[in-house]
Amino acid sequence: MSVWSAAQPRACFPLLTQQSELIWLDSAATTQKPLAVLDAERAFYEQINANVHRGAHRLGHAATEAFEAARSSVAHFINSPSRQQVVFTRGATEAINLVAHSWGGSQLQAGDEILISMLEHHADIVPWQMLAARTGAMVKPIPLTDALELDLDALAAMLSPRTRLVCVTAMSNVLGTRPPLSRIIAMAHAVGARVLVDAAQALAHDVIDVQALDADFLVFSAHKVFGPTGIGALWARMELLEAMPPWQGGGEMIARVSFDGTTYAPPPLRFEAGTPAFAQAVGFAAALNWLQQQDRSAIAAHETALYQQLAAGIAHIDGVHILGAPHDKGPIASLAFATAHPYDVAQFLDNADIAVRVGNHCAEPLMQALQQHGTLRVSIAAYNSAHDITRLLAVLAETLELLA
Ligand SMILES: Cc1ncc(COP(=O)(O)O)c(C=O)c1O
Repeated sequence: MSVWSAAQPRACFPLLTQQSELIWLDSAATTQKPLAVLDAERAFYEQINANVHRGAHRLGHAATEAFEAARSSVAHFINSPSRQQVVFTRGATEAINLVAHSWGGSQLQAGDEILISMLEHHADIVPWQMLAARTGAMVKPIPLTDALELDLDALAAMLSPRTRLVCVTAMSNVLGTRPPLSRIIAMAHAVGARVLVDAAQALAHDVIDVQALDADFLVFSAHKVFGPTGIGALWARMELLEAMPPWQGGGEMIARVSFDGTTYAPPPLRFEAGTPAFAQAVGFAAALNWLQQQDRSAIAAHETALYQQLAAGIAHIDGVHILGAPHDKGPIASLAFATAHPYDVAQFLDNADIAVRVGNHCAEPLMQALQQHGTLRVSIAAYNSAHDITRLLAVLAETLELLA
């Protein structure tokens, strides 16, 4: 296995080279962007810029080609059988809202059940609660074990013919937990339920193959995988997309419009009303291409080694511990403090040019289950180095001594 050196990827990221002291350990909130992404968007604006799927001119055709090529890149990255199964959205949040409105609104009724893992981000909870309020369906949380894993025995007991959907993250944005997706998907399918996988965190770290995974819906955001803000995607099984009604109306999503009746375009355009984020789509494709050009298994091994360095270091500092020790986890750690307030600690870290996140991480139900008001989250990405972790540990130890 080749060894990943973070020096070379760090050099690809202008913000990290220009702010050479900065230690970015907040990649779960958003990743920094490689030059390849900035260059791709700039080249698009300088050479092609035109609206897509309209315009009877050279640039309009070139922009449409670039936009659809970006869709193909996203499809290829997750091994989708077809690019028509990739719907561009504003991000993971909008993708989940799309499924809730369109699939949920047309398929669910009073008495149906939606099972949601306790690990979920608010983006994978609130749209289902809103759908439940509209339809009379019920939202039920899948609890955690004492080891903070999803409780699969509890899930087995909850699954029934009433279960229509199971929502689960591929990687918790708080604890880094990777639930056993294949098992959960097989269990849900056995009772005829659909499964939505939130890959917002996992996509930057894990190889996601939608055909191998066998989920029904998968969502993600470009900005968490080295791409631009304002764009993400929904992937879904073709037969589901074909049966789903539009959820927003406007240009682009129609076949014909008249005051006697309007017909809709086939997927994915049916779900992309209005001018899409076409320049960002080009940047998104550039981010995925950049990542694909790297040795992804070496990055994964590098991130795991950094996580282990972090965990070993934290074990030697008084007054702080990492929450949960799930069997399978990504490079995200939530730190809980015996007495110090996470906001105070983060302030000291910021003064030392170390960026982390504090708070409930948009996962209040999980925080309640953990009996925490907030944690300090350290999230690691390809451009981090052993030096970053060593420095974090040193400043953390000094800070906790000072605050004791
Ligand atoms: C696991 C998870 N799901 C969904 C989201 C929502 O992503 P976005 O805000 O890009 O739509 C996030 C963002 O932090 C996340 O971590």
